[in-house]
Amino acid sequence: MTCCINPSILSADFANLEAELARIANADAAHVDVMDNHFVPNLTIGLPVVERLQEISPVPLDAHLMIADVDRWAPHYADAGLASVTFHAEASNAPIKLARELRARGAKAGMALRPATPVEPFLDMLTELDMLLIMTVEPGFGGQSFLDVTLPKIRRARAAIEGSGAAVAIQVDGGITEETITRAAEAGANVFVAGSAVYGKDSPEAAIESLRARAQL
Ligand code: DX5
Ligand code: ZN
Repeated sequence: MTCCINPSILSADFANLEAELARIANADAAHVDVMDNHFVPNLTIGLPVVERLQEISPVPLDAHLMIADVDRWAPHYADAGLASVTFHAEASNAPIKLARELRARGAKAGMALRPATPVEPFLDMLTELDMLLIMTVEPGFGGQSFLDVTLPKIRRARAAIEGSGAAVAIQVDGGITEETITRAAEAGANVFVAGSAVYGKDSPEAAIESLRARAQL
């Protein structure tokens, strides 16, 4: 079932993003963290920069929008041609409408949950989603430690997805290392974001292969 290793460019050199994307050519997608200093206490890049990255990236882009007012902004990321666009459930007033809009514009629709947000209120909308992102740290910064308290939620989400028959990927993001990736995979995750565990290594490509091997059950 294991599918994807998506390195987060949050841990890359922001002065050399084109070269940094070229260093992860064996990745399934590049994870792009968009932060607005409102939904999370950090600020990264926005639509104009992501549009240019989409034009030059050798791998598909997977946007993770940690922004307020996401109902307004997320469709623009789909229009830019990104492979997948993930919004936070806590930031959307109309998650079903937004997921439909993303799909209608040609992107995979992802919905993210902060560590303390339960999955149960959203189980009836699984068929509207291509991906559920279960945050395994509080969103905002790279380099934090994996929160094991999120593992039961991953297990419950996987069971619900299997039960529903919907084809929904479970992405985990935050604190993914060669050690924690196995626990996340065993719990049912199949798309793995890793920032420091990829860009913090001398060879990002070798780090990706090593994470991929560790995620195989
Ligand atoms: C955190 C971001 C993550 C971050 C992960 O809010 O959503 O994508 O880059 O970084 P690591 O893998 O270093 O925990
Ligand atoms: Zn992220």
